[in-house]
Amino acid sequence: MPSPKKGPTPATLKRLEACAWEVMERAYNPYSKFGVGAAILTEDGIVFSGCNVENAAYGHSICAERVALVKAVSEGYRTFAAILIVCSSGKPVAPCGACRQTLNEFAPDLRVIMAGRARKVTVSLRKLLPKSFGPEDLPDKPD
Ligand code: THU
Repeated sequence: MPSPKKGPTPATLKRLEACAWEVMERAYNPYSKFGVGAAILTEDGIVFSGCNVENAAYGHSICAERVALVKAVSEGYRTFAAILIVCSSGKPVAPCGACRQTLNEFAPDLRVIMAGRARKVTVSLRKLLPKSFGPEDLPDKPD
């Protein structure tokens, strides 16, 4: 059995959490009034953050987790160790289904840290998205 990878150091966790709370302040959420902040950690230790960005055509709103992920990918980063998520209720919140699937594309072993004001819950993406469908399931695998 492969041994589970070590999680982020306390200092990195602190950095992730600070980034997530900070970016949540920039959430564009005039419809739901619900703010979400996410900070994703690349395997080389770089942090990208994202907030939710809503739209008058509600279905075009995008979640904080996907904003963080696509920012990283568009800057050339594709391997990730952890994502930390905070929200305006101050309670730990789990990524939605669309975000789980999008994260799974790049990091099926991602460590998902749901941070509230008072406590953190850590769970693997594999646990949040069991029996997932991913690149390996396609006959023509991407490069
Ligand atoms: N939201 C996120 O940003 N991430 C999630 O995982 C769940 C929901 C956002 C979308 C919308 O702007 C607001 O929270 C309410 O659903």
